[in-house]
Amino acid sequence: MRRIAVINQKGGSGKTTTTVSLGAALAEKNKRVLIIDLDPQYSATTWLATHTVGRGVFDLFAETEKTGIRSLIHGTTTPNLSLVGSSAWLVGAEKALATEPGAETVLREKLADIEDDFDFLLIDCPPTLGVLTVNALTAAREVLVPVEAHVMGLQGLAQLIQTVDLVKKRLNPQLNITGILACRLDQRTKHGPEIVQKLRARFPETCRTTIRENIRLAECPSMGEPITSYADTSSGAQDYRDLASELLNEYEAKQDQEEPLEYEQVAND
Ligand SMILES: Nc1ncnc2c1ncn2[C@@H]1O[C@H](COP(=O)(O)OP(=O)(O)OP(=O)(O)O)[C@@H](O)[C@H]1O
Ligand SMILES: [Mg+2]
Repeated sequence: MRRIAVINQKGGSGKTTTTVSLGAALAEKNKRVLIIDLDPQYSATTWLATHTVGRGVFDLFAETEKTGIRSLIHGTTTPNLSLVGSSAWLVGAEKALATEPGAETVLREKLADIEDDFDFLLIDCPPTLGVLTVNALTAAREVLVPVEAHVMGLQGLAQLIQTVDLVKKRLNPQLNITGILACRLDQRTKHGPEIVQKLRARFPETCRTTIRENIRLAECPSMGEPITSYADTSSGAQDYRDLASELLNEYEAKQDQEEPLEYEQVAND
C-alpha cells in the first residue's frame, strides 16, 4: 500500500480537493483507495460519507486500545474508494495528544492491520503542523503538497519541508516528498504560470501535472460526489486523472533512484 499524506499548513491550499479527486481518479483506474480524513473540519467526510460516521477517526486516538481501524472504514458511492471519516471530536484530540508520550505513532500502528487491503492510502491533513499532521507524516511514506498557484501560496513551504525533514530524521526514515502540486492555476493571467515556473526552479519534486482553476471542482463537494463522476469531462477531472497517471508512472522511475533527494538545503535558503 502506498501511503501518501496530503499536507500544507496553509488553509485552503487544495488538500481536501486533491485528496478526494486524486483518490477518485486512482479508484477509477481500479486501484483500491482508502482516504483517512484527519481534519477536525471533516470536509472530506462531509463530501464523501454516505451516512453518519460517529466520532470517526477520533476513536483511534481516544480509545486506542479498543478501536481497530477496520471498524472505521466505510464505502462511498465511488467503487474502490473507501473512507475513514472525521468529526469535530478531533478538535480535542490535538490538545490531548500533545502531552501523551508516543502519540505520534498511533496512526502508523493502526495501519498495520490494513496494509494489504488497499493499494493507496491518502491522508487529508488539517491546516496545521500539529500532532495530527505529525501522525500522518509518521504513518506515511510519501508526502504530497498542494499549493495555490499564487505568490502567497508559496509562503510557509520552507517551514513545511523542514518539518517533513525532522519527522524523517526522528520518526520515519522512509518518508519522502513525492510531489509539490500547483493548484488553482489561472492560465488567463501571466502570474499563475510564472509561479509554476518558480516552483519548478526551486523544487525539483514539483509535479508535472498542474491543477487548473475549475468551477466544477468548487461545486462538487456540495453534490456529495467526486469530480470524476460529477463532471466527468471537466478540466478538473482531467487534471486529477493526469496526476493519478503521473503518480503511477513515476513510482517505477523513483524506485530506481539510489539516493533520496536532499531537502535540507532548500529549507535553509
Ligand atoms: N482547482 C480548483 N478550482 C476551483 N476551486 C478549487 C480548486 N481547488 C480547490 N478549490 C476550492 O478552494 C477551496 C479550498 O480548497 P480545499 O478545501 O481543497 O483546501 P484545503 O487545503 O483542504 O483547505 P483547509 O486547509 O481548510 O482544509 C474550496 O472551496 C475548494 O472547492
Ligand atoms: Mg481541507
